[in-house]
Amino acid sequence: MPMLCFIFCHLNGRIRHMKFEITTNPLHRVSADAAVVFSFKETDKKKKQTYITTKGFRAIDAVLKGQLSKLAEAENYKASRGEVIALFPQSGIIVPTKVYVIGLGAQQEFGIDDLRRAVGSFAQKMKKKIDSIAVALPDDHNVLKNTELVAKTISESVLLGSYAFAQYKTKEKGERTLATAIIANVSKNSSSAQKGIEEGELYARATILARDLVNEQAAYATPTHLTNIAKDIAKASPHITCRIIDKDEAEKMGMHAFLGIARASDTPPKFIHLTYTPAGKKVSHEKIALVGKGITFDSGGINVKPGDHMQEMKMDMSGAAAVLGVFSVIEQLQPKVCVVGLIAATPNLISSKSIVPGDVVKALNGKTIEVLNTDAEGRVTLADSLSYAVKQKATKIVDLATLTGACVVALGSDIAGLMTNNKAFGEKLKNAADQAGEKVWELPLDKDYVSLNKSDVADIANIPNTRYGGTITAGLFLEEFVDKTPWIHLDIAGPAFYTKPVDICPKGGSGFGVRLLLNLITKQL
Ligand code: BES
Ligand code: MN
Ligand code: ZN
Repeated sequence: MPMLCFIFCHLNGRIRHMKFEITTNPLHRVSADAAVVFSFKETDKKKKQTYITTKGFRAIDAVLKGQLSKLAEAENYKASRGEVIALFPQSGIIVPTKVYVIGLGAQQEFGIDDLRRAVGSFAQKMKKKIDSIAVALPDDHNVLKNTELVAKTISESVLLGSYAFAQYKTKEKGERTLATAIIANVSKNSSSAQKGIEEGELYARATILARDLVNEQAAYATPTHLTNIAKDIAKASPHITCRIIDKDEAEKMGMHAFLGIARASDTPPKFIHLTYTPAGKKVSHEKIALVGKGITFDSGGINVKPGDHMQEMKMDMSGAAAVLGVFSVIEQLQPKVCVVGLIAATPNLISSKSIVPGDVVKALNGKTIEVLNTDAEGRVTLADSLSYAVKQKATKIVDLATLTGACVVALGSDIAGLMTNNKAFGEKLKNAADQAGEKVWELPLDKDYVSLNKSDVADIANIPNTRYGGTITAGLFLEEFVDKTPWIHLDIAGPAFYTKPVDICPKGGSGFGVRLLLNLITKQL
């Protein structure tokens, strides 16, 4: 894919290439390190067997004269989601050297995300142990009858699970990693499998771009770096344009909230404005703005953060990374709606030029903000980004922001907080998130809490007068800058960055939000 390589040139070829192939050959005749089949958990206690086989399992078990089922029995295999057993058959009987069985959990509870997570955790465990896998697409469940979706889920999860950020590991950098995945036994008319694989690859590549940007050190992933990524994307995509607003121009326009936060740092701030315009006459009138919080490092500013976890604050541009991830594949996915990507990028640092508590700044929409705490910087920069989206006449807005620690307290590290001024739009995003396997949960923008953000001297204060309900008060602050535009705020402080690995993602940046946004713009609007 020469176009994609071009896009990623500012990442110095960090994105590993994995090849996907399809073949009409049966699994046991595909030349690969490992053959992969699936099974479900048996929940009927009356049954002797603890697992339920799939067609692929039975086929290979037959060729192996029952070796696989014997092993499963001997190991008391339960086929819980992600539970794996491995068989090394005598050479010569089948072409692949090893056979793996991956558990999908109980059939009654099965959903497509179980396949994603089972395959993702398998890829994460095996990425350094095998070069190539051959997979028999399971179709032994209603959900699995959709070949395109199954193929998509497999290519997406293999790529996401085998992801590693080894940029600064001098030894691991060039190490072997899972390089080829072959889908076996597809019927002659394989266009749906092929289509699914390609879509899964795009979803994963977009997510991986976001992960790489989040995992990068702040010294490298600067506002200028994000700008270069945005420009590269526009250059490679005939339907995407990119406008970069630098400090002087932002000043003239009136983005004083954003520039107030940016003031402390010598790193030039950048406001990125990407636009995708769909081709053809019969396109939707929708213009959806995707707004990402782009704090490339959050020290807290004058209200400096404690030092113990500060290094994680390179992730404070995860919203921006998700927006760039989405834009890196929009040209290929061709949604019918106009999409605008907006990022106010700056670090939040400390210097003699810093904004200090008590300073008042005026946002692009004319509202004044009293900055009572420089560590609540995200909402201040977003005030300008959201005002800008309104000025651009966006018909819908979604913002993604690692906004509050309170959201992690409320929902834990896996679930993003969703707040909206429009129920119907919120439901669309929930569907999109559900399909993507990304978890969101709605919190209310209760009007009774609006007064908590009151300021004695300005239109609004950037922190509320109580520490309770901090995610909601932050959401209510943002609502002041979207006018009446249907808008969703996603507080991704938890799932944007994992402090321990999950099934489809190692420790670090997750690229959260990329896949739900892709679903939203291609399937829900
Ligand atoms: N970027 C942080 C929020 C954050 C915390 C993200 C933990 C990810 C993990 C944000 O800028 C911040 O500092 N928020 C403050 C707000 C407070 C001062 C009202 C917070 O949550 O403590
Ligand atoms: Mn902060
Ligand atoms: Zn922050």
